[in-house]
Amino acid sequence: MDRIRIRGGRPLVGTIHITGAKNAALPLMAASLLTDETLILKNVPRVADIVSLGDVLARHGVSLAEHGVDGDGGLCSRCLSLQAKSISTATVPYELVRKMRASILVLGPLLARCGEARVSLPGGCAIGNRPVDLHLKAFEQLGARIELVDGYITAAAPRGLHGAEIRFPTVSVGATENIMMAACLADGETVIANAAREPEVSDLARCLVAMGAKISGIDGDRLVISGVSRLRGTGHEVLPDRIETGTYMMAAGMTGGDVELVGGRLDLLSSVVEKLEEAGIKVENTQRGLRVWSNESATHGVDVMTQTYPGFPTDLQAQMMALMTTSRGASMITETIFENRFMHVPELCRMGANITVHGASALIRGVPELTGAQVMATDLRASVSLVIAGLAADGDTVINRVYHLDRGYESIEQKLANCGADIVRIND
Ligand code: UD1
Repeated sequence: MDRIRIRGGRPLVGTIHITGAKNAALPLMAASLLTDETLILKNVPRVADIVSLGDVLARHGVSLAEHGVDGDGGLCSRCLSLQAKSISTATVPYELVRKMRASILVLGPLLARCGEARVSLPGGCAIGNRPVDLHLKAFEQLGARIELVDGYITAAAPRGLHGAEIRFPTVSVGATENIMMAACLADGETVIANAAREPEVSDLARCLVAMGAKISGIDGDRLVISGVSRLRGTGHEVLPDRIETGTYMMAAGMTGGDVELVGGRLDLLSSVVEKLEEAGIKVENTQRGLRVWSNESATHGVDVMTQTYPGFPTDLQAQMMALMTTSRGASMITETIFENRFMHVPELCRMGANITVHGASALIRGVPELTGAQVMATDLRASVSLVIAGLAADGDTVINRVYHLDRGYESIEQKLANCGADIVRIND
């Protein structure tokens, strides 16, 4: 199993290219099931979750082809073409869903296109219970019959889906995407109230519109979708990954570095920028993206509460906590989206951080310096928070279970090494 070894204490200085957003590319790939024509996605990140969803789609009969595109800096963004001429099976087995929870996103498109779908229940995951009840209730409102048998969700709509007024009791990114995709081919009008407003949801909506869907209210919390009888192929460029961008912003800030994030978009990160500036980190737009730097010997502690977009993203909570461990004073980080998303806390404490958790809040008292240690994390963002901590720590940090990082960060050690980090991957 791969590990990453970081010799900390060097400021990150240089340029990092931001890839397309994993969380936008996944639903966009699932949308290929809605048409028999070809969907071409540009700027798809080279990460393991994309490969996993590619495996799910191939099983349904989607033909996938990859074309590399040389970007500057020697890194490639890739183009993926997907064509679902016909659907060979509407079942997604447990071994594929277990690998990646986002496989649930094929449920809506399969149901809309084939009138049936059978997808294994995702089960528990490291960051909490994560049910799919909101997806299922909304499909029922669209006229599907849902049964849970032998660990599988069986959804059937033999006479097709019909539009409905759906009000989500809580905001869900995945449920909004799943229902929006299905509603595009439903009979009549669907209204999604309390819809997620995350930029990845809007990116999907824009691609669906280019495929011939009729969606209004994009970027807002009330989406209105008028069903059409068929969708066509199109080309679409995946929006830049705001979570990758925010992660490298925090890494640059914590190491007292100066980094240009090419392709990064500050407008997708306003709540994060506000907190980083409050902490003493400088940020500005550049022609190619954005620049982030810190001249201060230490940042200041700030309080953060995760919220749905445009609030502070839960997917940057662990990285922000790493940054706060060496900030002057105390800070309080409150997680409101997922229960049990503090698995990085004991690992950061093993590196010398002073953190106490009280329910959904963590109190971080800044320490002058972290020290390297052997650490391990159980999810993607928790793992990357340990990378950030390791870059700033004194001595060697070894991060085990690197496959979590590979799920969502393209060429992470190469990107950091290009900015002067002493980081290597060890395979043994
Ligand atoms: C997506 C992102 C993930 C991010 C999360 C919140 C992808 C592939 N993943 O996950 O990186 O952390 O948004 O921004 O885009 N919930 C229910 N019932 C449901 C669905 C959700 O109770 O049927 C709850 C969840 O347990 C959670 C909250 O709603 O507490 C938000 O989850 P949701 O927005 O659905 O997250 P995902 O779409 O799974």
